[in-house]
Formats: sequence, structure tokens, C-alpha cells
Amino acid sequence: MAGNDSVGAGDAAGRLTLEQKASLTSGGDFWHTQPVEEAGIASILMSDGPTGLRKQSGEPGVSLGMGQSVPATCFPTATSLGSSWDPDLVRRVGEAIAREARAERVSVVLAPGVNIKRSPLCGRNFEYLSEDPHLSGELGLAFVHGLQSQGVGASVKHFAANNAETDRMRLSADVDERTLHEIYLAAFERVVTAGDPWTVMASYNKINGTYATENAWLLREVLRDAWGFDGVVVSDWGAVHDRAAALRGGTDLAMPPFGDDDTVVDAVLAGTLPESVLDEAVRRVLALVDRAEAAAPGGEVASDSDAVDVDHAAHHALAREAAAAGSVLLKNDPVGGAPLLPLSGSGALLVVGELARTPRFQGSGSSRVNPTQVDVPLDALREAWADDVPFEPGYTLDGSSEEDRALRSAAVEAARGNRTVVCVLGLPESYESEGYDRTHLDLPPGQVELVQELVAANPRVVVVLANGGIVTPVAWSREVPAVLDTWLAGQAVGSAIADLLTGRAEPGGRLAETIPFRLEDTPAYLDFPGHLGHSRYGEGVFVGYRYYDVKHIPPAFPFGHGLGYTTFAQSDLSVEVTGSGEDVTATVSVTVTNTGGRTGSETVQVYVSDLDAPVARPARELKAFAKVRLDPGASERVTLELGPRAFAYWHPGLRRWVVEPGTFTVSIGASSADLRRSVTVTVEGDPIRTPLTAESTVAEWGADPVGGPLLATAFGERGATLTSNPIASEVPLGVLAGLAGFPRAKLEVLVDAARDTGDTETDGTAGATR
Ligand code: BGC
Repeated sequence: MAGNDSVGAGDAAGRLTLEQKASLTSGGDFWHTQPVEEAGIASILMSDGPTGLRKQSGEPGVSLGMGQSVPATCFPTATSLGSSWDPDLVRRVGEAIAREARAERVSVVLAPGVNIKRSPLCGRNFEYLSEDPHLSGELGLAFVHGLQSQGVGASVKHFAANNAETDRMRLSADVDERTLHEIYLAAFERVVTAGDPWTVMASYNKINGTYATENAWLLREVLRDAWGFDGVVVSDWGAVHDRAAALRGGTDLAMPPFGDDDTVVDAVLAGTLPESVLDEAVRRVLALVDRAEAAAPGGEVASDSDAVDVDHAAHHALAREAAAAGSVLLKNDPVGGAPLLPLSGSGALLVVGELARTPRFQGSGSSRVNPTQVDVPLDALREAWADDVPFEPGYTLDGSSEEDRALRSAAVEAARGNRTVVCVLGLPESYESEGYDRTHLDLPPGQVELVQELVAANPRVVVVLANGGIVTPVAWSREVPAVLDTWLAGQAVGSAIADLLTGRAEPGGRLAETIPFRLEDTPAYLDFPGHLGHSRYGEGVFVGYRYYDVKHIPPAFPFGHGLGYTTFAQSDLSVEVTGSGEDVTATVSVTVTNTGGRTGSETVQVYVSDLDAPVARPARELKAFAKVRLDPGASERVTLELGPRAFAYWHPGLRRWVVEPGTFTVSIGASSADLRRSVTVTVEGDPIRTPLTAESTVAEWGADPVGGPLLATAFGERGATLTSNPIASEVPLGVLAGLAGFPRAKLEVLVDAARDTGDTETDGTAGATR
């Protein structure tokens, strides 16, 4: 905070002039809020980001990762954290980032990103946790708890439906309301309602034609009224187009400074922006400044003796632990009778791949961190190995085919014999970034040819992957016995890889995203990133495994998949349901036993299927998970709670979550495609009534507990004949009544009588300002 005598939000707001209030709703500079010195209002500093602190040290320039930033621990990217399925670990990473932020007098860290990975082509998927809203919500919440426990505010981003980088500042995500609530808003809802984040960041894109920053449905009706959010809505950097429209829509703070404060003053004077709306935004910005001041008195001008100490060595060790915990062992086939991994740390080893010497461990754009140190995989492997470890680059990072050919032949020659070959492959920096999308899911052709030739020369090949978004392994993985995906693993990448390959650590990750065989198999294939400024989310709620499962499209590796170095059994599944309808809860218990020979961790995944749904629902959805670590032979009874949301769907007509009584299957699995045990349970309760109108069919009237008797009374015996007739029963009652000469006034009485006891239906329009 610049200025250390900040006064309380409530006191200050009433004493400010209209001009001062307007100034507070836009940044003071690229990263600070606006101070009002005469009124004793300090400014606070915000910085990226999700992978580690990016506090810019020089001229800010633009936000896309340009300009220097102070050294900070570069933790694994969100893809890796998401694959850890470990809220405790993610919370600890959040805490460490917050301590580094406190040491740099940063009040708000612009993280976490909880957008859903709608398509694997999104260039920014490395910054997001999962394709699944439950997993994203729980891990995003853990990150926020970690940050805020240290007195640093979070900024949950990018709200909402910001799922593509192409045309990201204009694209309209055209999504139906049920899909928004069940898939694209659910993780935000979880973080907001359980984590009280200091800020939420409104995204660049439009939702159903209205910019997120101006979208009163999103920011007022959903975020504030339905979820009770009372923090600051800050715009993404450059997401405001019109200051008054943004304030009306529900954005409190435009970042960085945008336009002229006079536009806000003029709008108030002209009556197009109610002053009460401006006052609310100012109150929230001042409350944020107060919150920051209370957590870190003095802010940016506090004396050095108040500074937080950072143990960089401990943070590096945490980055190393997290990198191993998020790495997914996709396959580990036997070679010569035993799984290839882990290696013993001795014996002849060859390391191949430029990425082993020049690692890629973080993504490009605004999340880019200036790391405090980098563990290079080749160095770490050499250090871990008893014998000499030769190296062959095998390919160039820019994929120049001439040079690649020569490097490839040299690598293949070196691989002959009975060495174990560790081949590090991955996506070059230019393949994925914030700001643009990918066009395919393949590794560079030179790398594919390399691995194919290597494995033909020597079957003992371990592929270690470095990539932010997924790569499809179809062209090369069948012959390769072991594939370990480390994602973009942060600055401890090298030591983490050495830990994993030698078995000092186990690969703790499970896929947070399905890996398909082909791009054409992906759910949003037909409309990603979109056309003519619109992306139509035609796949609806069928995102990720929800799509592959119902379409029976086998993926290369399913959601939730990942191997360790030991084996587990899950037994004695029991599910106890209590309560009914919208108060239902269920307690799921299962015994997990380590049946292998090494200590390791198992991720219990609980999926729920709705067998009686009146809307199209996914075959199963992840609703709870837990990670347990067990010694060989040890068992633990794991208990997980399912709340009403585990059974609910968003009713598009009633525009609310409903739990439809009926039968559900609760399963535990090793992945979405590998369910190990299932129990069918019944949820009791009153059936969901949708309101009857003149447009409701005779069958719908007949089936309704209130409408049925009303119909019988009004139509007498003919009512029963009509409902049992397969053709007549499908006719809307209003049409039938008209044809039968039934008086319109009587029909309206009937509809009113049915409505008196029914639920209220609304028009179901989502996302547009109304
Ligand atoms: C990104 C945000 C980031 C902001 C500030 C924007 O371009 O979308 O995620 O926090 O810049 O760097």
C-alpha cells in the first residue's frame, strides 16, 4: 500500500467527491489500485499468478509476461497441480506463493484459474486445473485457502466461460444456462461460497452476447445474489470497454487504468449510472484496501522489520514434491518380466532429448515466473546415477528437419545395446501459450520419428513428457513401455524427474483431463474455437469424460487414470443415504489396501450416475475424491460425504438445482472408465413438479399429482380416455380444449388452479443483460 494511514471503507466513502469515487473504480497504474491521498485512502498492489509470483520489477509494459519480474519460486503449472488430486498439497503451494507475495508487499495474487478445459486445443489449458468442475472447484478452493490464510487475497479467474484464446477479447461463449451452472460456473461457485475470495476476475469474452465485465446476469444475479459474493469484481487486464457499462454490469474495478474518470462522473450526472451503483463499487474497493491493510499493516511502505521471511530452499523443495505428485505415469509395461519403472539408479542409462538439457517447465504469458533456480533434468539424472550418463539431444527445439535428422541418427546409434533410454519429449514453447490456441494435439514430427526409431532399436525406452496441454500419443506410444507425463513441472522439474525415475518418489498424479486418440474425437471439435465471433457450446454438459462415456468413444487414457509403483485394492463399498430430496446426503465408505510391495498413494474416485433423469445426463460424474498414502499391506477405511449437489442437476425450466427422487448408482473407480465397485441407492422425496400451462400436453397434465385430478374433474370420463390414448395424450391441453369447444375461461381457471400449487417457471434466458 502506498501511504500508510489508510482509513476504513465505511468512513471514507461518505466523504469522497463524485470525482474521487469515480477514480477509485479504475487502477492507479498497471498493478495498483488508485489511492486518494487527501482522503487517506491507500493503494494496494496486485500481481500474477497461478504458478508463482510475477511481480514486475521494471516498466510494466503490457501484461503478457513481458518485462522483468522479481525472482520467485516457479511451482508446477495448474495442469500438474490439477493432476495431483491433492487439496492439501495445493493449499501448501498457495501458502508459499502468498508468503513470497507478502515479502514483496503484494496484497492480491491474480490466481487461481478455475476455467474448465473445454477443448484440449485451448492454448492456456496449462493454467487450468481440470475438465471436471468438482475437481477444479476443490483444488481451486484449496489454493484460495492457502493464499488467504497468509493474508494475501485471491482473484479467482477468468469469470466465466473463458475457454479459448482465439479472439479472446471479443468471442461470445454461447452456452445454455444448465451447462453454465453444471460445468462452467460450478467450480467458481464452490470457491466463492466456501472460500470467500477477496476478488473475482471478470473475463475478456462475452457470455451469450454480453461482455463478462458488463454482464449483470453473471455478476449480479448469479455471483452476488445467488452466491452471496461481497468482494471486488476486478476486470481482466483490458476487459473493460465502457466504464459506466461495466459498473452497471457489476464490475467494481477496471484494471489497468482505462479511459477517463469523467465518463463515470458524466454518466452519474446524466442519470444513466445510478450513484448508488458507483457507491457500492467504491465501498467494495475500499473494503478490499482495508482487508489488505488489516492483513499487512503498512503495505508497500511498511518498514523492513515487518517483512515476511521467505525460505526459498523450502519452497523449492515444495515445488519438487508437487512436481512428483502431479506427474502421471500413463503406462509402465513389463520389459523382461518386470515393469520398466522405477529404475534402480544404476546400470547403463542414456538420456535423449533437447528438453532434458533445456527444460520447459512453465507456460508463456502473464503467468510466467522468473525462477529462483532451475533443476535441469540431465544434471539431476547424472547426479542420481551411479554410472556415467551419456546424452544425445535427438532433436532441435525449433524442429529444423535437416538438423533433426542428423541428431536422430546419432541418438538411435547411441541407444543400441541394452541401455535404458530416458527420452524427454514435449511441446516446444511456440506450440502453446496464453493468447493463442493450438491447432493439433501432436508432438513435433521430428520427436515422433525419434521415439519410433529409438524403440525399434532398443525396447527399454522411457518417455518423459513435458507439455502444458495434453498430447495424443497415438503415433508412438504403443511400442514404448513406459510413459510419464510431467506436464510443465515448475523449477524443480529436473530433480522431480530423477526422483520419479529412481523411485525416490512415486508418480502421484491421475489424469485431470481425458487424453483422446484423435482431435476429431473431442467434444467441442465442431465449434472450437468458434466461428464469426461466436462459439456455440453445442456439446452442452457433455465435456471431457462426460462426452467420451456417453458416446462410447474409448480414449487413449481416461480421466482419472494414472499408475503408481504399487497396487491397491478397494473393497467393502457401502453407501448410506440419509434425508430425502434436496436435503439428501450420502456417506460413502470403502476399504483401501496397499497390495503391492512399496509405499504409495491411491486416489479414491467417487462417481454418481442418475438412472432416472428426465434430462440428458452424463453416464457418471465425479462427486468426491480422496488421496490416501499407505505402506505395503496396510489398509484404511476411507469415508467421503456426498451432499445434495452430488445428485442434483440444474433444471432449465425451474432455473434452479433439483434433486429428482429415484435411483442413483454410486461407484468407486480407478478412472472414469474403470469402475471397481458400485452400489445402487434410492433417493426418496416428492417428484419435481414443472408448472402446467395450456401448452402442457394431456399426458403431462395426467401425470401431475395436482393436474391429473383437475383434468379428471374438468373433463369427466373423457379425461381418462384422453390420457390413455397415445395420440391424444401428446396434444397440448390448450389445443385439445379449443378443438373440443372447451371454454377458454374455464381452461384458464384450470391452469391457475394447477399453478397455485406448482413451482414457478421463468423464461430461462441466461447471460444477457435484461
Ligand atoms: C490475463 C490474466 C492476468 C492479467 C494480468 C491478462 O492478460 O488474462 O490472467 O492476470 O493479464 O497480467
